[in-house]
Amino acid sequence: MIEVRDLTKSYGQHKAIDRLNFSVNKGEVVGFLGPNGAGKTTTMKIITGFMAPSSGEVNVAGHDVFEDPVEVKKRIGYLPETPPVYGDMTVEEYLRFVANLKGVERARVPSLVARAIEKTSLGDVRRRLIQNLSKGFRQRVGISGALVSDPEILILDEPTVGLDPRQVAEIRALIKELAGHHTILLSTHILPEVQASCSRIIIINRGKIVAEDSLGGITQRMAGAGRVTIKVRRSPPSLAEGLSRLAGVRGVRASDASANGRGHGAIAALHSAFEIETDGGEDAVERIAAHVVGAGAGLVDLRSESADLENVFLQLTSSEEQQNQGVES
Ligand SMILES: Nc1ncnc2c1ncn2[C@@H]1O[C@H](COP(=O)(O)OP(=O)(O)OP(=O)(O)O)[C@@H](O)[C@H]1O
Ligand SMILES: [Mg+2]
Repeated sequence: MIEVRDLTKSYGQHKAIDRLNFSVNKGEVVGFLGPNGAGKTTTMKIITGFMAPSSGEVNVAGHDVFEDPVEVKKRIGYLPETPPVYGDMTVEEYLRFVANLKGVERARVPSLVARAIEKTSLGDVRRRLIQNLSKGFRQRVGISGALVSDPEILILDEPTVGLDPRQVAEIRALIKELAGHHTILLSTHILPEVQASCSRIIIINRGKIVAEDSLGGITQRMAGAGRVTIKVRRSPPSLAEGLSRLAGVRGVRASDASANGRGHGAIAALHSAFEIETDGGEDAVERIAAHVVGAGAGLVDLRSESADLENVFLQLTSSEEQQNQGVES
């Protein structure tokens, strides 16, 4: 649906993006992840036809962005980094304006505007002037504007920036709901965002793609590690020793279970906790649980986390930085 080939953009001497290649298939929700200044917004502006690249190609639904910008813009709903919402229009007027601008058939405008308002929960403010809305609501108006022409493709540049936690949850739920009907490319530097919404992620750093995979694939391939935290009532000296000998276990560390207790609970003080590093597989978790139960240690809590995306992200973006510095110097 979106094909990006050797895309490069220089601002003067500075290469903001450097020969990017990736594609987004129909129906996918792809997270475009990278630290500040990585080149996310630059890439999105080029895909949507708002900016010309220095070199390279972008093809959207079979149309070249630079030869056929009108066809491309018709198929894309774009939430820019700073949504250009017109303050002196009401929410409804603005959405009608965007729908007309997008060439939506006149007869379809009212129903599409109503749908966009409903999807982004703007019903209560639809007759208010945009300039009087809070930042979070203006952000929703921007998302609503991206949706209003019912485009096949949505390009959302940091859709939840500036929203409060409840609105963030609402927008994530909305993105999930939209995923069935639209192909979505969304940028973010908030990691839980991609975990919550995306089927695939592309990590970009300093204008280059450093990883591209499914979420599970990336975490497993790059880190291949997990952590299981257990809390037990009794910990015979042999427990940690036994755990460390299980297949898939890489290390066992006793941690202080009562340290963050409330200080007066005799029960909390009696618990022992262990942090167990594993190979990330489920088999290791199962073995740990069986071993603790078998040892009669009085298991009261067991938590399993896979290596988090945050570590992978930091690992990828910092090693690339070192590489680049090596090349430049
Ligand atoms: N108009 C411009 N003129 C000069 N340099 C620019 C311009 N726009 C962006 N850049 C530079 O290009 C690089 C990529 O910027 P871009 O805005 O695409 O990053 P980003 O990944 O969207 O970052 P953020 O997470 O902060 O939004 C940065 O180094 C930035 O300083
Ligand atoms: Mg940006």
